[in-house]
Amino acid sequence: MNKDELQFHLVARADEIAPGSGQTIEVNGKQLALFNVAGQFYAIGNLCPHRGAALSDGFLSGNKVFCPWHCFDFDLQTGASDQVPSLSVPTYETKREGDDIFVRC
Ligand code: FES
Repeated sequence: MNKDELQFHLVARADEIAPGSGQTIEVNGKQLALFNVAGQFYAIGNLCPHRGAALSDGFLSGNKVFCPWHCFDFDLQTGASDQVPSLSVPTYETKREGDDIFVRC
């Protein structure tokens, strides 16, 4: 799909995801992980490209999530892994309007 065709979808209310935590969401048939980092929301692909763990269950540190199974890191803004540069996850644009969180997908 052309990136220009992607649309914002309402996926959550801000108070549903506590700061420092993540949640699995479904958007357009895709499973994403949505994180709240000190009030800033980030969306990435939920499945770890290593062995398929749910990254929404991972551990946040700064702007990174660490996979709950083998602790590979993924940058929430770029999707890149510093530990394993050959692995990455897709990232998705987010926006907040009041208490509503939208993801472009
Ligand atoms: S499944 Fe994520 S690091 Fe292994």
